[in-house]
Amino acid sequence: MSVIRTAILGFGTVGEGVYRTIKTHQQELKEVLGAEVEVSAVLVQNEQKERKVDKGILVTTNFEEILKLPQLDIVFEAIVGKEPSFSYLKEALVAGCHIITANKEMFAEHGQELLDSADRQGARVGFEATVAGGVPIIQILQQLLRVNNLETIQGILNGTSNFILTEMRDKQLSFEDALALAQEKGFAEADSGNDIHGFDAYYKTKILSQVAFGEQPETSSFQVAGISGVTIEQIEVAERLGLRFKHVTELKREKGQVQASVQPVLVSPSHPFYHVEGVDNAVNVTTDLVGSLTLQGPGAGMLPTASAMVEDLVHVWHRPLLKFGKQQEKEHLETRQQDGNAS
Ligand code: NDP
Ligand code: HSE
Repeated sequence: MSVIRTAILGFGTVGEGVYRTIKTHQQELKEVLGAEVEVSAVLVQNEQKERKVDKGILVTTNFEEILKLPQLDIVFEAIVGKEPSFSYLKEALVAGCHIITANKEMFAEHGQELLDSADRQGARVGFEATVAGGVPIIQILQQLLRVNNLETIQGILNGTSNFILTEMRDKQLSFEDALALAQEKGFAEADSGNDIHGFDAYYKTKILSQVAFGEQPETSSFQVAGISGVTIEQIEVAERLGLRFKHVTELKREKGQVQASVQPVLVSPSHPFYHVEGVDNAVNVTTDLVGSLTLQGPGAGMLPTASAMVEDLVHVWHRPLLKFGKQQEKEHLETRQQDGNAS
C-alpha cells in the first residue's frame, strides 16, 4: 500500500489533535485514500516540553530539516501568528507539498497569495479549520453557491466568546474565570486578546467573505468589537427580558460592496443563534433558493479542529476543492471545455 507522508507544524491543541486523529483513524483514512498516512515530522519551538509523540520525529524550529525529508506530500500548519507560518507554507508549496492550515490570522492576510502560489505549483490548499472549527462551513458554502445566490451570512465564529457568555449566564462565573476555563480547555488563542476583543472573528469573517463573495469586506466600514465589555449584570437583565448576548458576525453585499461587522448583539428566542451555547459556533446563510440555512457545531478544541484538517487531507489528496469565490467552478468549466475541444 502506498504512503502519504505528512509533517505537522505545531504540537499545541490543534497539532496534537491532528497527530492523534491520524493515528486513531488510520483505518478510515486507508479506506478512503487507498494509502497509509504517515506523520514523518512534527515541528515545535520548545525542546524542553513533554509531549505524547514519537521523539524520533520531533524537529525543533528547523523547518528546513522538514523540507529535506524525502517525498513529503502534505504539510499541516497549526502554529501561531502570520510569521513564520506564511513563509513556511510558501516554501512548502515550492517544494511540491500540498498545505493545510488552521491559522486564520495568517490566512486572512495571505490566503489569496498561497492559493495563487499553489495553482502555479499544481498543489492544493486546505483551510476549512480556519473558520468555525469543526463546522464544515467552507465546503458547504462552496457547494451551495454553485447555484444559489447569496443574500446574507450571520455567524457566531468565536467559540471562546460564546463559551464565556454561556458560563457567565448559566454558572454566574466571572469573565476572568470563564476565560481561564476556555484557556484550560484549549479553546482560546495563544493571545486570548484576539478572542475577547473580536479580532479572531474578524479574521474568520474576512476568510468567509472571500469564499462567499470572492473579496474581503471594506476595512474602513468594518466594525469590530469583542465581548470584553459585557458584564454579568447586563447578561442577567437581558435574560429577564428573554434575550441573550451573542457575539455575531454579519456579512452582506450592498451597492456592490461587501459590508461586515463583528460585535456582541442581543438575540431573541426566535433567532437561530439563541440556543447556540458553550463552545459551539453557528453560521446562518440566506440565499435566493434555499432560504435560511443554519449549521452549528463545536467551533474550537482539539478533535473538532483536527476533524476539519484531516477532512481537508482527504480533499486535497483527491481533488482541488477549496478555492475562494467562484474560481473553482470556472476552472472545472474550462477543463470540461478543453476536454470537449479535444474529443
Ligand atoms: P497552541 O498555542 O496550543 O500551539 C501552538 C504550537 O505551535 C505549539 O506547539 C508551539 O510550539 C508551536 N509554535 C509556535 N510558534 C512556532 C514556531 N515559530 N516554530 C515552531 N513551532 C511553533 O495553539 P493552538 O494549537 O490552539 O492553535 C494553533 C493554530 O490553530 C493557531 O493559528 C490558531 O489560531 C488555530 N486554531 C486553533 C483552534 C483551537 O481550538 N485551539 C481552532 C482552530 C484554529 P511549543 O509547543 O514548542 O511551544
Ligand atoms: N480561539 C478560537 C475560538 C479557536 O475560540 O473560536 C477556534 O478558531
